[in-house]
Amino acid sequence: MVNIAILGHGVVGSGVAEVLQNNCKGIAAKAGDSIVVRRILDLRAFPDLPYADLFTTDFQDILQDEEIRIVVETMGGLHPAYDFVKACLLAGKSVVTSNKELVAAKGDELLTIARERNLNFLFEASVGGGIPILRPLDQCLAANEVFEVAGILNGTTNFMLTKMIREKMSFDGALALAQKLGYAERNPAADVEGMDACRKTCILASLAFGKHVYPEEVYTEGITAITEADVQYAAACGGVIKLLGRAIRTEDGHVFCMVAPMILPSDNLLAGVDDVFNGIMVRGDSVGDVVFVGRGAGKLPTASAVVADVIDEVKHLNARKYLYWGPNEPGHVRDHRLAPVSMLMRFSCEEDAGALVQIGRTFGDVRMISIPDAPANEVAFITPCMPEYLLMDKIGGFSGMTLTRAIRMYAVR
Ligand code: HSE
Repeated sequence: MVNIAILGHGVVGSGVAEVLQNNCKGIAAKAGDSIVVRRILDLRAFPDLPYADLFTTDFQDILQDEEIRIVVETMGGLHPAYDFVKACLLAGKSVVTSNKELVAAKGDELLTIARERNLNFLFEASVGGGIPILRPLDQCLAANEVFEVAGILNGTTNFMLTKMIREKMSFDGALALAQKLGYAERNPAADVEGMDACRKTCILASLAFGKHVYPEEVYTEGITAITEADVQYAAACGGVIKLLGRAIRTEDGHVFCMVAPMILPSDNLLAGVDDVFNGIMVRGDSVGDVVFVGRGAGKLPTASAVVADVIDEVKHLNARKYLYWGPNEPGHVRDHRLAPVSMLMRFSCEEDAGALVQIGRTFGDVRMISIPDAPANEVAFITPCMPEYLLMDKIGGFSGMTLTRAIRMYAVR
């Protein structure tokens, strides 16, 4: 019998308790031992639950209980989750977490503590909810040189974009529905402003390229500025707008990392990933492109990944897993403006600006894009691919033309 504790009985924590209870026989068979929830930490009381007597509001009840070998952290946020997780590792308990904010900010430190103590710090659920991605990236694809990891990493915003595009739902209506369904963060600004996807991108980039990437190093743009016109322009380009997190290894071993709405060509493997689904593409030198798709948020999908980590840990209680990356290295993440990109740009033009001549003179032959409802003075085109700072320099030379919108086109590099 292996005793575990759960920190936090919110959406994910309650899902973990539920999955462990509902599937206990199969889980015990797979783990080779029965898994017993001995304590649950939460400030609230849940008197109606059959396991109401397991609750405590005192973290010390868990930390000092030597019978508890594994601690599941599903509180979210950095504090006190970081303090609790670190204390558990220092006390000799392995930790499983779904907390992407924690892993993105403190992953290297916590992995090092775990390694030094022959423990495990596992966090499959922190990226992609129920989708297996970190273990496959770390183990099944280990033979590859990975060039790129890119994905739709936030279920809330993908759900919202899908509702806004297909059902013409308002931004606020779609967000309220995502919150009701338990997809959104406690503070949904983290979803719509891209921070959640940024944290997940950091975890993927750290694991894929071996050095910790901090959220502060990643250029991040959310979906709050997306309009109906953007959606129409994306369709006119033959694509669809998705909020993408992208990490690319440069030839000299550095990384470009970014989270932003991008126009994906309709035939891209991620373009059809809608609703709360996440999709993550890994490009390796031997395997080519591999895509992982599944439910990226929600109680039971996320609990599924947490419990799988608990099972894995039960099977490795006295053996360390090799999930690890090195410390952050300043300069490892390159300025995103150096990355080559092609953009869909829209300009509001004065009548006598000679927009087409200026565009031709600056960029040569470009693909012009139009939509039926565009304002009369609007001109839109897809730029050639070049470093972003150069594109911006070049359009700085336009006169009588004001840039109103620029959206990056996703293209394989
Ligand atoms: N708010 C997150 C999302 C939850 O919508 O993807 C899962 O990390």
